This record gives sequence, structure tokens and C-alpha cells, in this order.
Amino acid sequence: MKKMIAGVVVAASCAAGFAQAAEPVEVEKGKVAVIYFSWSPDGNTRFAAETIAKKAAADIFEIKAQTPYSANYRACCDEANPECYGKKLRPIMPIKGLDVGKYDVVFVGTPNWWGTMAPPVRTWVTENASALKGKHVAIFQTHGGGGMQRVGKEFAELLPGSRLLSPKAFPGSSVRSAGKALEAFVAERVSVK
Ligand SMILES: Cc1cc2nc3c(=O)[nH]c(=O)nc-3n(C[C@H](O)[C@H](O)[C@H](O)COP(=O)(O)O)c2cc1C
Repeated sequence: MKKMIAGVVVAASCAAGFAQAAEPVEVEKGKVAVIYFSWSPDGNTRFAAETIAKKAAADIFEIKAQTPYSANYRACCDEANPECYGKKLRPIMPIKGLDVGKYDVVFVGTPNWWGTMAPPVRTWVTENASALKGKHVAIFQTHGGGGMQRVGKEFAELLPGSRLLSPKAFPGSSVRSAGKALEAFVAERVSVK
């Protein structure tokens, strides 16, 4: 049984460009993947990704830049600024064992960098846009106070052929106490059978 849609239609309270999707999507166990990038030593997006993967019984994969960003916050911000505003693609490492075609629903997580996704995430999404065609994609991000900003809109630009579920932003500093909100984020988007 492929993607079956449960009857509840959730009005997409999301960024412009997102089609209204029927949520939660009914999906078989083993058909959900979580892909994420995380940079800070706190690993806010990693924590969100791991919590989401557990709740969705999903396989989880990390995106890594071929050339890592500076470990210094200021230097990383300076390095990322022109890439983020210029929508540049930073080369990434191959992700071992990931076959996007296997999955029906893919959660993609990024920290909010300069109001948008981190460049390695832009690279992964760009490289996988055709593999993600027709699939449900759920975006989540962690941020330092800016909220969703341009993240949802710019994902939608990159994935015109995907069925985008409503995205959600989680404050990075409190993500470790947001377990219930992360689980609700999953439950509102997928029903794993
Ligand atoms: C290069 C850089 C740019 C950032 N830009 C923003 C921003 O524009 N808006 C925002 O709310 N937070 C911004 N942040 C904060 C991160 O989004 C936030 O700390 C996030 O939770 C970090 O996730 P991580 O621990 O997975 O790396 C930025 C952080 C970095 C390193």
C-alpha cells in the first residue's frame, strides 16, 4: 500500500508557496526518512531530528559539508552569509546507505542560517529534487529567535514537484524541552502504520 491519505485536511498555516496538504499522511513503517544538518556544538537540529526519527520510526541521515565551517560562531556566520543570501550550493559528503527512492515521506531539518536553510541542506535538496518528486516532504528547523523567516518559502522553490507538508520552526535554545511539541509535529504530519 503506497501513500494513503488520512481524511483530515489541515489548513496549511505555512509560508507562501506551500500547497495545502492532507495531513496526517498514512505511511508504512520503514518508509520514512529524516535528513538533517546541524553545526553548533549543542546540536539543536540533531536533537530535533533524532526525536522526530524516533517518533516516526524513521531512518536518520546526516548531511555534512565537504569543507566544514569554522567552529567559531562569528567566523561561521561570516562564511555562511554570502552563501545564504546568494543561495549558493556548498558541496556535501555522499550520504552512506541513503536511497531516497525507498521512502514515501522525508523529513528535512536545518538550522535557520541568515533567515534561510544552511547551504549544505540547499545542496542536498537541490541534488535530490527529482528523487523527491511526488513524495511528501516535511521541513523542520531550529532557530535563534527568527522563527521560520524564508526557510519554508525557499524549500518550496527548490521542491516544486514534491508534496510539502506544513513546515515547523523550533527555538533552538529550548528544543531539549520541546519533546512533546516535536512528537506532535510528527503525529500531525504522518500516521505510521
Ligand atoms: C551561521 C549562522 C547563522 C544564523 N542565522 C540565524 C538567523 O538568521 N535567524 C535565527 O533565528 N537564528 C540564526 N542562527 C542561530 C541558529 O539557527 C540556532 O542556534 C540553531 O538552533 C542552531 O542549530 P544547530 O545546533 O543544529 O546548529 C544562526 C546560526 C549560525 C551559526
